[in-house]
Amino acid sequence: MLKDKNVILGVTGGIAAYKSVEIASRLRKAGASVHVIMTAGAQNFVTSMTFREITGNPVITTMWGEITNHQVEHIALAELADLMIIAPATANFIAKAAAGMADDMLTTTVLATKVPIFFAPAMNSNMYNNQLTQANIKRLVELGWRFIPPASGHLACGTDGIGRLPEPAEILDFVENELSHEEDFIGKKLLVTAAGTYEPIDPVRYIGNRSSGKMGYAIAEAAKKRGAEVTLVSGPSALTAPAGVKLVRVETAAQMRQAVLEFFDEADIIIKAAAVADYRVREVADQKIKKNDDELVLVLEKNPDILFELGQKKKSGQILVGFAAETQHLLEYAKAKLEKKNLDMIVANDVSRKDAGFNVDTNAVKLLYRDGTVQELPVMTKYKLANELLNMVIKL
Ligand code: C5P
Repeated sequence: MLKDKNVILGVTGGIAAYKSVEIASRLRKAGASVHVIMTAGAQNFVTSMTFREITGNPVITTMWGEITNHQVEHIALAELADLMIIAPATANFIAKAAAGMADDMLTTTVLATKVPIFFAPAMNSNMYNNQLTQANIKRLVELGWRFIPPASGHLACGTDGIGRLPEPAEILDFVENELSHEEDFIGKKLLVTAAGTYEPIDPVRYIGNRSSGKMGYAIAEAAKKRGAEVTLVSGPSALTAPAGVKLVRVETAAQMRQAVLEFFDEADIIIKAAAVADYRVREVADQKIKKNDDELVLVLEKNPDILFELGQKKKSGQILVGFAAETQHLLEYAKAKLEKKNLDMIVANDVSRKDAGFNVDTNAVKLLYRDGTVQELPVMTKYKLANELLNMVIKL
């Protein structure tokens, strides 16, 4: 993946800068030509000489000195590059990038380049979790810049928490993984559903569930990045739709059914990650129900099973994927659903686990296929899982 690529490695002023030496070394071993740009802060932690020896290329440390290497002038390097990695990326650097500043060689190059940029933030947990840093990251992500999530553990400042620079090998894996499935969904139309549904009781109350929408939104985002034309039909969720994705907001299962049927025919791939309510209130009150009686009985009636209906309508060439959230008998129930709903793949997750299922950022699932194979995936972030699912979908 990285062979013969021109990679700009931006190093900013954090203690984790020493790990960038290994990143540079690994990039070179992978066949890349590495061009290091150091901020002034970074030079307090590592010397440019180290990078020069490791990369075999001149290292840029200032915008103002004599240009020693003819072409290595800021715009030239920005244009020569295939990819940029900023590791470690300090809170300060992220803030400057988000503000569009260009007051040194690294910020200038970041602004001038059009190639994919990967940020590997590393800093104190409080700085990382600070709303300003998070807002800056969000802004850059929305603009298509990629963030390699920091690891948790012991930090140089003496505390434990999130903010560690991931190991160099993991950083390279992340970058290669992202680049390897770049654009493999071009020309594909993907319909994904996310979040739970709200089934009204009266004008102010509803029956809902704990689904956050994180899994479905992650699938939409990953598919969009890989070139798909994505329609996201979402129940109520606090999340914002990934850039470039067509978002259709619904509330009830009936509305979700209608929206899904509208886009079903043209979709090549349909992934139903929504937690659709199985029942709705038979008679929704016109006015707010008053608390007069000791007991209130609501009669529920069955909602349409959207996925079952899609399974019946499925044409050859369409790939239909469902989710099965269970608290017991996971494989048995999931297998039954795969067959009953005529799916190509079902993603079974045990929602009784703490690190999987509703409202958390990670998931641990088993994938079941029509031929009876079962594939168990380790715990991973929902975004990583989204990419794994898409890898399987492409194979199907
Ligand atoms: O049968 P169960 O609800 O457990 O199946 C889960 C799968 O079916 C999910 O993919 C979910 O999105 C879908 N589903 C649906 N319509 C329903 C209930 C579930 O499409 N009414």
